[in-house]
Amino acid sequence: MCGIVGYVGVQEATTIVLDGLRRLEYRGYDSAGVATQQNGCIEIRRAEGKLLNLEKVLSERPVQGNCGIGHTRWATHGRPSETNAHPHYAGGIVVVHNGIIENFLELKEILRGKGHNFNSETDTEIIAHLVEDYYKTDKDFVGAVRKALAKVRGAYAVAILCEQEPATMVAAKQGSPLVVGQGNGEHFVASDIPAMLSHTREITFLEDGEMVVFGGGGMEVTDLAGNLIEKSPKTITWDPIMAEKGGYKHFMLKEIYEQPRAIADTLAGRLTEDEGDAYLEGLNLSDQQLQAVDNIFIVACGTSWHAALVGKFLLEKHCRIPVDVDIASEFRYRDPIVQSNTLTLLLSQSGETADTLAALREAKAKGGQVVSICNVVESSIPRESDGVICTHAGPEIGVASTKAFTTQLVALTLLTMRIGRSRNSLSAENCRDLAQELLKLPRKVEATLELNDQIEAIAREFMAAQDFLYLGRGNQYPAALEGALKLKEISYIHAEGYPAGELKHGPIALIDEQMPVVVLVPENATSEKVLSNMKEVQARAGKVIAVTDANGESFCDNVDSLLVVPKITDDLMPILTSIPLQLLAYHIAVLKGTDVDQPRNLAKSVTVE
Ligand code: AGP
Repeated sequence: MCGIVGYVGVQEATTIVLDGLRRLEYRGYDSAGVATQQNGCIEIRRAEGKLLNLEKVLSERPVQGNCGIGHTRWATHGRPSETNAHPHYAGGIVVVHNGIIENFLELKEILRGKGHNFNSETDTEIIAHLVEDYYKTDKDFVGAVRKALAKVRGAYAVAILCEQEPATMVAAKQGSPLVVGQGNGEHFVASDIPAMLSHTREITFLEDGEMVVFGGGGMEVTDLAGNLIEKSPKTITWDPIMAEKGGYKHFMLKEIYEQPRAIADTLAGRLTEDEGDAYLEGLNLSDQQLQAVDNIFIVACGTSWHAALVGKFLLEKHCRIPVDVDIASEFRYRDPIVQSNTLTLLLSQSGETADTLAALREAKAKGGQVVSICNVVESSIPRESDGVICTHAGPEIGVASTKAFTTQLVALTLLTMRIGRSRNSLSAENCRDLAQELLKLPRKVEATLELNDQIEAIAREFMAAQDFLYLGRGNQYPAALEGALKLKEISYIHAEGYPAGELKHGPIALIDEQMPVVVLVPENATSEKVLSNMKEVQARAGKVIAVTDANGESFCDNVDSLLVVPKITDDLMPILTSIPLQLLAYHIAVLKGTDVDQPRNLAKSVTVE
């Protein structure tokens, strides 16, 4: 976790770096800092907490220079504090770092033995000391960085400056994201593209083990041994405004409202209605390979894991292949039985989640095909997959995932269609019907969003509750889990998702007049069962907020609050029922005054274990 930004060029580095850090705050906001290099002197400013605090420090004690680095931190080693804030300095070397140095204690001891003294509790500080140690003897900055990085074990993306080397910056990557931007006589480096998008669209993606040296108006990419690597930039078409709030009070609300477009974009060019199939360009699996699949693992974390649970229903129903769904942090350590005919599917919005990436590597090492569904095209997970289905949700800034989730469900439906057709388990006619339903989805999502005012009123009524239960059966159970997670994440209210049939096996003991219970009960094969569970709640004075569809409205009489979404095929219904739950969590959080886009203790992209 953490965001890094670096700049070498002709403009004031602090302005560029701060602007970049603002766009990376979703990666962590425990502290922030900048360092600039000018006239053989390095100036550092740091502050605990959000970027705003650093900006205050800088307005009182500005720094200057055309070469600078900056950092926004999500604490791993050492609590959030100014001392632990990056950049870290040692004898003329200054470093910002994203990742974890696993052997830092061992290296710290060695360096202490050589007379180095440490100021912080961080693993990062050892990088500055290591580089300093080599630089002292060789007076070769780039060589010193190379030698230092050869000593560290773990994950890093670093940007480093040296007091004695004017207008030179070295950056390198191993296991953490890092991209390079090229402008006119200026260069940028950052953890993510939005940090530089307002300055350049020419982006070079670094691979693990690569290092880049900026200086003299140019840049040079090498491996850690110093061998030159030819890289060409790609032109990124994202509009920087896409990454702004666009008039909404929060990114999360904007992203909830972007869902009709995000879904339409994810479908664009992928439905061949006439043939009754889905066209997935990056899947890279032939019909023969898909026919040979014996079993599927879907592996993910958090919200993506909830999407995976819905995926199991889709794939088993239409493709008749056994599907196991795993939480990535469990999969990677449980020695899963992956065989040559196993398809492992990784789901990740960011494409950088450390546990999911490790699960991918575990699956790859064991054999079989590895496909990812991801929202960030050039991120680590798709780059390491055999095939990729991109969700085209656009950048998701709010820490609580919304449009990434619903577009993952769309991508899973497309994949189901493709596999089902290749194996003939899904007829062309049924596939065409599903395609028709998918095409109606953006409009139905728009209609669902019209429930907003009603949901805000429900939020007012229930915002004081201490606990919430969310119930659903079948593919509505993952939607219930997702609704509960959204509420927990942004309102800090305790919430649990349960399969409705499990209620009587324990959680029913919690029900009293204080307990709001959100019941997902669209009309389907199990709705009567869910209704019985709902009655059990009402019999114990629990407050019911029911989410149903146009056909289910009649059987939801007597509930405390009723939300009616449009009717759609059962396969896609979790998309529609999730949306009121996103809005409910959002409004409760706003009413409680929490930080909706950057909830406490969370970060957007979890790149540590
Ligand atoms: C969702 O609201 C979360 N903040 C979190 O659970 C997230 O879904 C999880 O960390 C996985 O992230 P990924 O999809 O980027 O891999």
